[in-house]
This record gives sequence, structure tokens and C-alpha cells, in this order.
Amino acid sequence: MSPQPSSFPGQKNPPLKAALLYSSQHGKTRKVVAQVVKQLWIAPDVFDVANGVDHTTLAACDLLLFFTPTYGDEELHEDMENFLANFNVNLSTRCFVICELGNYYGYDFAFGAMPILRRRLLELNGTELCTPLSLDSLPKLNWAHLTRWIDHVNQALHERF
Ligand SMILES: Cc1cc2nc3c(=O)[nH]c(=O)nc-3n(C[C@H](O)[C@H](O)[C@H](O)COP(=O)(O)O)c2cc1C
Repeated sequence: MSPQPSSFPGQKNPPLKAALLYSSQHGKTRKVVAQVVKQLWIAPDVFDVANGVDHTTLAACDLLLFFTPTYGDEELHEDMENFLANFNVNLSTRCFVICELGNYYGYDFAFGAMPILRRRLLELNGTELCTPLSLDSLPKLNWAHLTRWIDHVNQALHERF
């Protein structure tokens, strides 16, 4: 099923600088990021962490958005893991948002890597902008869930910025 457009109105020009960081082994996270960029109220700079990211650029951002698949057993994808191992920016005046992809069908609880990322961003004194998303992506991507969550992120952005 193809994604439905977000209902959030408005222009992509709030006064904030944002970066979206992702990793993807088989392409689903990349597809999700493409959809998010279309529906998001803001226009973040987008980085695949596998290609390296200049941390000075990130330090200048008000908002960091993270998108990562889960691999292994509740582990981050290795590109995101490598990025995080070297990420040491003080986030005390910055917000973050997290979306993890995984296989949650049949589970009563999230079974993903998001807590690892979240713990590190909180350690760096970041503020979580809104509820993170555990997006079911195997065998099918839950586009409707993604669209509802992007609305939620847009609302939180609108309230904060
Ligand atoms: C080898 C392998 C291990 C996985 N391990 C987990 C897991 O522990 N927990 C989970 O929720 N999803 C797991 N998944 C599902 C992936 O997170 C999911 O397929 C995701 O959409 C992959 O994103 P990508 O296409 O961007 O790489 C695993 C998938 C594979 C292929």
C-alpha cells in the first residue's frame, strides 16, 4: 500500500536547523526517510551515516532526527553503531527524534534497538521532542503508522518551534 499524505498544513520554513541521520542495510529505512522528508514540516539536511557525517555540522543543529533499523538481537545496525560510538556532541540545547524499524508483529512490546540510541542521546543531555516510533517493517512496512507519527512529529515541532 502506498503512503497517504500527511494532513499537517504549513510551509517548510520554521527558524530551526535540523539534520536527519539514518542507516539502512536493505533499503527500507532509506524509503521511510524519503517519505518522511516529503511530509515533514521542516526540511532537514539528510545524512546516511555510512558516508560519514561532520560532527561540527551536527553541533550547529537545533534538532536531530534518527532513523535506524534493528539487526542482530535488539542491536543497532552497525553503521549507526559506529556513528554513535564516536558521537560526543553536547546536546543540552538540542532536541532529538527517533524512529526505529524492525519486526514487531506478534510481539506485545517493542523489540528494537531504539533504547540504545535513546540512552546515548539522553546521556549527551538531549531533549526528546516527542514519542519515538517503533515501525513495523517486516514483512510489510506499516505506512499508515508512519504517516500518523509524522503528523505527531509535525505537531510537536509546531508547538516547540
Ligand atoms: C538478519 C536480520 C536481523 C534482524 N533482527 C531484528 C531484531 O532483532 N529485531 C527487530 O525488531 N527486527 C529485526 N530485523 C528486521 C529489520 O530491522 C527490518 O527488516 C528493517 O526494515 C531493515 O531495514 P533496512 O532495510 O533499512 O536495512 C532483522 C532483519 C534481518 C534481515
